[in-house]
Amino acid sequence: MGDQLETLRDDVLEAVEGAADLRTLDEVRVQALGKKGRLTEVMRTLGSMPPEERRGFGQRANVVKEALETALAERRQTLEAADLERRLVAEGIDVTLPPRPQPLGRLHPVTQVTEEIIAIFADMGFAVAEGPDIDDDFHNFTALNFPPEHPAREMHDTFFVEGQPELVLRTHTSTVQIRTMMAGPPPHRIIAPGRTYRCDSDATHSPMFHQVEGLLIDQHTHMGHLKGCLEDFCAAFFERDSVPLRFRPSFFPFTEPSAEVDIGCRRTKRELVIGEGSDWLEILGCGMVHPAVLENVGLDPAVWQGFAFGMGIDRVAMLKYGIPDLRTFFEADLRWLRHYGFVPLDLPTTYAGLAR
Ligand code: DAH
Repeated sequence: MGDQLETLRDDVLEAVEGAADLRTLDEVRVQALGKKGRLTEVMRTLGSMPPEERRGFGQRANVVKEALETALAERRQTLEAADLERRLVAEGIDVTLPPRPQPLGRLHPVTQVTEEIIAIFADMGFAVAEGPDIDDDFHNFTALNFPPEHPAREMHDTFFVEGQPELVLRTHTSTVQIRTMMAGPPPHRIIAPGRTYRCDSDATHSPMFHQVEGLLIDQHTHMGHLKGCLEDFCAAFFERDSVPLRFRPSFFPFTEPSAEVDIGCRRTKRELVIGEGSDWLEILGCGMVHPAVLENVGLDPAVWQGFAFGMGIDRVAMLKYGIPDLRTFFEADLRWLRHYGFVPLDLPTTYAGLAR
């Protein structure tokens, strides 16, 4: 076992030294320390070890982990400095030249897609609601029927506010369901787009990302309405007459029943077509609001009912506009924005067209 740790450490250290750019370095980090990383896998075997071995091995694994983290951080600094140096030379501009008037800039795809989503749901009678990025345990978990110590809390990889363990960076926009229901009496019909945060970073996860939440509460809305609403939304969003959707049973603490929704697509080597074909791609979670959640906000579940859903905005933006890498969304690279951005002042509407 000890040898295994040493080999792993030496392998990774070698890969760190050999990483010629930041992206490669990040791949090395994910492969070693990420959720499915080599060291993470090794640490996972700790539980099945006899207690007398576990202690020593655990300690040694931690030493290795720290060594790898330090090496990664140092290499990152070196590469960042080199990168900056290179860019300063390559992208230098002559600030003594007279200014040239520039047309207005471009809207970020996340802004564009958020506006498109708002436009579609506005047509269906949904208002936009908001909540704070920093929220408390009550709104993020407890009121949403996550019992204390429930493993689902850990699944969220929460960022806590230092020194204030009650405060978290919200891990989902579901917080706004609670805020909406506590702010006034039903009926409610809202969507809540906004920033969300989880301690996770690789090619398909960013520690800051965007979600849109939906909530409808009245006295008669059922799962059939949820299905119809999402079908209409997806057809409008992907700009097709209809799109195949598949509802798979799932679990969320705050909905019962719960479902995950897949959209039909066709994958070839070179492209991904949404709305036809025999493959499926997951795009959102949804369900009927759990009676316990209604009780938590003071509503009588014998009288009130409704549905909720939550969708990743960045993800549907990638799908709709064929943007291959999530990380580029947040690199603030003007050339990327000029390529993938949208003309400002052309507000998306369902009657005049969503995007130009
Ligand atoms: N909050 C969930 C998440 O971030 C997504 C979600 C699932 C929201 C089901 C919902 C819902 O409103 O009904 O993973």
